[in-house]
Amino acid sequence: MALNIVIMAAGKGTRMKSATPKVLHKLAGRSLLAHVLKSGEPLVAQARIVITGHGADQVEAAVQADGISFVRQTPQLGTGHAIQQVVPALQGEGTTLILNGDVPLIQTATAKALIDACAGHALVLLTVDLADPTGYGRIIRDPDDGGVLAIVEHKDATPAQRLIHEGYSGMMAAPTGALKRWVGQLSNNNAQGEYYLTDIVAMAVAEGLPVLGIKAGSETEVLGVNDPVQLAQLERAFQAQQAEGLMRAGVRLADPARFDLRGTLTHGQDVEIDVNCVFEGHVELGDGVRVGANCVIRNVKIAAGARIHEFTHIDGETAGASVGEGALIGPFARLRPGAQLGAEVHIGNFVEVKNSTLAKGAKANHLAYLGDATVGERVNYGAGSITANYDGANKHRTTIGDDVHVGSNCVLVAPVTLGNGATVGGGSTITKDVGAGELAVARGKQVALGSWTRPTKKR
Ligand code: UD1
Ligand code: CA
Repeated sequence: MALNIVIMAAGKGTRMKSATPKVLHKLAGRSLLAHVLKSGEPLVAQARIVITGHGADQVEAAVQADGISFVRQTPQLGTGHAIQQVVPALQGEGTTLILNGDVPLIQTATAKALIDACAGHALVLLTVDLADPTGYGRIIRDPDDGGVLAIVEHKDATPAQRLIHEGYSGMMAAPTGALKRWVGQLSNNNAQGEYYLTDIVAMAVAEGLPVLGIKAGSETEVLGVNDPVQLAQLERAFQAQQAEGLMRAGVRLADPARFDLRGTLTHGQDVEIDVNCVFEGHVELGDGVRVGANCVIRNVKIAAGARIHEFTHIDGETAGASVGEGALIGPFARLRPGAQLGAEVHIGNFVEVKNSTLAKGAKANHLAYLGDATVGERVNYGAGSITANYDGANKHRTTIGDDVHVGSNCVLVAPVTLGNGATVGGGSTITKDVGAGELAVARGKQVALGSWTRPTKKR
């Protein structure tokens, strides 16, 4: 049966006290609205419509994708008024699912349950039992048979109605034809002077249409974000869920409360992650990978047995990065886009690698920079050495053959090639290619002046 998915996202979000529209604030690295869209993604729908208003240009640009359309609501006169704006865009006789742009953790299975229960003819509300229902619309049930009779908004509720703990989550599935008709009949004669979508419940009851209340599986699933406190609480709840899922799959987290995943993480067996690590984008960890405390790791594939020591920063950005089997990285290392490290590579403290390939067993253990370089097997790249890969206008490559030894504090001015087995003396500035097996030394000659006296301080 034809399904329309409508996401209400026009509201201002005043309590966020932010220039960013509320639905674009991030939870686990993705906007609130993107979470809602993702939950709806597996559902086969003929239309996915986002209602925008406050910051509409920004919101639309942020979530634009094939199959998503936008309807603007200006001014915002309430949730019923919001749905009135989409009426012309709602096609067919099937079901319309209404979600909230600021309730990010709604589960696909729950949305599916609403749609199935609606089946194009019943009005189905997602409700939740709340310890503190303040602010929520209350579900009014028939004292005899428990059937839903109406939703009364908190501000319009009598003291007796306010004692009801079953609240409306803001999400429903409705028969499309009836919904279009009902929203045309709404009035704003209420405490807030708004057009309440929730008033359609009493209309359905009056018409004798079945109205069902389905209870949400968990409170987290229906919690909305109204201010930074709620955003942070939901972030922690979501991170706790992710951490638990990973631990159940065998990942050993030193402390699930100090773990953040803002994207996706795939992993092998016996992966260990110490405290305060942040994973972003897409990260793959092979069997036995160990990550030390305080690492930030984004868009990289790390092979089996590799060890990422404390305080390492890896960001493959869009190009990606890879770390080979048994490699040792850090502490205090920085891998940037295009860093492709082979097996058993060692990258030590204060070493930066960008757009460079290091073959098996190559080592750069201290204070070094490798940019736009191809580095052979077993190369030893000395402390303080750098590739001068940028001439101020263009980037150039440095090619270092197998078994090359680059001494400390060298500058390799690209483009330049060091042949297999070449050695570069410490402190050299290399501007010309070095042949295989050659020793290149390019630095001022040492002189000794015996007649010299050290200056003394004037009294
Ligand atoms: C709404 C429900 C209330 C429910 C609560 C759950 C109504 C009248 N009330 O109240 O029963 O318990 O959600 O959180 O529906 N929006 C628009 N245009 C508008 C107004 C709102 O797009 O003109 C959007 C908001 O951006 C938000 C959603 O609709 O995503 C809910 O709006 P909000 O103002 O938070 O509704 P509540 O008053 O909290
Ligand atoms: Ca709300």
